[in-house]
Amino acid sequence: MAEAIASRLAVGLGRLGTESAFSVLARARELERDGRDVIHLEIGEPDFETPAHVCEAAFAAIRAGHTHYCPSAGLDELREAAAAYLSNSRGIDVQRGSVLVANGAKPFLFFTILAVCDPGDEVIYPDPGFPIYESAISWAGAVPVPLPLHEERDFVFDVGELEARLSPRTKLVILNSPQNPTGGVIDSTTIDETSALIRESDAWVLSDEVYWRLIYEDEFSSIASRPGMLERTILLDGLSKTYAMTGWRCGFAAVPQPLIDPLVRFFVNSTSCVPPFVQLAGVAALTGPQGSVETMLEEFRIRRRLVVERLNEIPGIRCRRPAGAFYAFPNVSALPLSADEFASRLLEESGVALLAGSAFGQIGRDNLRVSYANSQAALDRALDRITDFVDALA
Ligand SMILES: Cc1ncc(COP(=O)(O)O)c(C=O)c1O
Repeated sequence: MAEAIASRLAVGLGRLGTESAFSVLARARELERDGRDVIHLEIGEPDFETPAHVCEAAFAAIRAGHTHYCPSAGLDELREAAAAYLSNSRGIDVQRGSVLVANGAKPFLFFTILAVCDPGDEVIYPDPGFPIYESAISWAGAVPVPLPLHEERDFVFDVGELEARLSPRTKLVILNSPQNPTGGVIDSTTIDETSALIRESDAWVLSDEVYWRLIYEDEFSSIASRPGMLERTILLDGLSKTYAMTGWRCGFAAVPQPLIDPLVRFFVNSTSCVPPFVQLAGVAALTGPQGSVETMLEEFRIRRRLVVERLNEIPGIRCRRPAGAFYAFPNVSALPLSADEFASRLLEESGVALLAGSAFGQIGRDNLRVSYANSQAALDRALDRITDFVDALA
């Protein structure tokens, strides 16, 4: 009986992907339970504490009784604060009524795709890219159309290649800058050319900008700020990366009018709302002191140099300097093993957890994703181990 029931799962489940960071983390934890020392470079979250004033705002909200259901679109206080934040940072005019709040940025990815795609519709998305894009596209029965990001272009796509992929069947174009897993940042000329192209199409745009505060040299450029784009762009941002709030589960987006009601219906059908005390903490994050973001960025800048320099010293590894986020994406194609094998053997034999580029699509299969959201001391030790691991291959 139990066996018969076990086989009665939805056939469509095969279309639902996953995020391998979580399975690598699980394996690393298993090794740690067996007494092994593992250095974690696999997880995409800042290794900083949530700022104290944000935690205090949450405690105060709980004490004041903000512990019940609240509107599915989000609390007015957070929608208002997020509208001002998005408007000021991107030089656009976002009204409170256009902002929705969800349990992280992730639900916006999933539900936007479900809200706009019918089976057979095409969605263009970055490859390598955050694995949830392809998973959600496939789950919706839509056709994933990968847009290559090129290492030699510092992981920015070629606008000609985007043009070649746009068609009347394109329902949605997903952009991500700064980018996971490469750290690439789309420059403002590419944003201009992309918006000019997309304006000629009928495609929606989902601009995933959750890492926008973590950018090292360039000015940040959002496609939502280009003429005519805001009304077709889901401008996605959140608290996770900027304020070290990954576990709080709170994201927000400026949403074009026709998508507001469909997205709220998805929220009503799934999670009902984001806990109100979390949202009030979010207001404190967006409107309070921003020093923690600066401190975190400066620390990431130091680690970026450390990681990139040391990786490039290892024969057979080459690594571009990422312009944003906290990931390096070194290429290991000159080594006598695949990047997949490298990642799994490095964890098992040397106790360093990182991700194979194949977890992010076809194009990155010769690369590794190294998250430098770990201390300089831990990064140094990890790089010693990686150096020894590669030496032993020779
Ligand atoms: C590109 C990208 N978008 C969205 C998310 C999801 O963030 P959140 O924690 O807000 O759901 C992540 C998290 O790793 C990410 O890398």
